Amino acid sequence: MKVLVTGATGQLGHDCVNEFRHRGREVRGVSSKDFSLTDPQAAYDYVTAYQPDVIVHCAAYTAVDRAEDEPDLCRAVNAGGTKALAEAARDTGAKMIYISTDYVFPGDGTEPYKPDAPTGPRNVYGQTKLEGEQAVRETVKEHFIVRISWVFGISGKNFVRTMLKLAETHKTLTVVDDQIGSPTYTRDLAVLLADMASTDRYGTYHATNEGYCSWCGFAREIFRQAGVYVKVKPVPSEAYPTKAVRPHNSRLDKGALDRAGFLRLPRWQDAVGRYLIELVSAGKQY
Ligand SMILES: NC(=O)c1ccc[n+]([C@@H]2O[C@H](COP(=O)([O-])OP(=O)(O)OC[C@H]3O[C@@H](n4cnc5c(N)ncnc54)[C@H](OP(=O)(O)O)[C@@H]3O)[C@@H](O)[C@H]2O)c1
Repeated sequence: MKVLVTGATGQLGHDCVNEFRHRGREVRGVSSKDFSLTDPQAAYDYVTAYQPDVIVHCAAYTAVDRAEDEPDLCRAVNAGGTKALAEAARDTGAKMIYISTDYVFPGDGTEPYKPDAPTGPRNVYGQTKLEGEQAVRETVKEHFIVRISWVFGISGKNFVRTMLKLAETHKTLTVVDDQIGSPTYTRDLAVLLADMASTDRYGTYHATNEGYCSWCGFAREIFRQAGVYVKVKPVPSEAYPTKAVRPHNSRLDKGALDRAGFLRLPRWQDAVGRYLIELVSAGKQY
């Protein structure tokens, strides 16, 4: 099996390359240095020349707030680039795994979103990721669309590292308590994606670590496990106005994984513990 992983310098792509390699697959990880997703022809040509059996499309324009100021660039990467990869998958007969987001949903209510729930993105990033999903569905039959949320991994900045860094200089932190979702550890997700790649159980899935929390609860657990004493004060979203609106309800229903016979990811608290160990072993600065 020949695997092409986009976004290989990013959090998820990095761990996907490692996971497929660990399983003895021939894998090539690419980033914007190999081709830019803003150039659909270059993306298409690269993929059709490589002739992969599976494309794991982790690359994206992920600067959620900046996207409000540069929607065209965000759309070119997340929708246009994804469409080009989907066309290349179709024309080479490759399966495609597209990584999407909880931000395709409006985020109201408290019920977990099922994969077929009505979408309604509240920001540019979410809208363009949804357009990417649509391009994949329309273009390549053999696809997996996997929506994830609150990502953390070794190759990049994320909430866990930001909290640990802030704790070095603050005794008290205020953290948003009215957005509820689930953290996703990229090492755990990479295992699921590699499992999916060897099946034909195509469709749209939700995949995060198990359990729900607020950002505030997430921060408290990070500090508890890291043995760092910081007072974490809960605040509403209005205390931290951001350019892009964030959903309050990012709960994703993972039942589709069970029905297709895929293993769910471990609980998020367990993932935090293993990530802290990974950070220490990698000698990473926060
Ligand atoms: N981060 C989250 O909390 C979150 C939540 C839900 C869903 N997701 C989705 O999960 C996936 C992985 O996210 P992540 O956090 O691992 O991403 P990330 O760390 O921000 O990495 C983004 C990757 O995309 C590549 N990329 C960006 N613009 C590109 C372009 N124009 N052409 C080619 N490659 C380009 C980057 O390559 P360079 O290094 O060369 O720029 C990098 O490898 C994405 O699809 C994202 O939408 C993320």
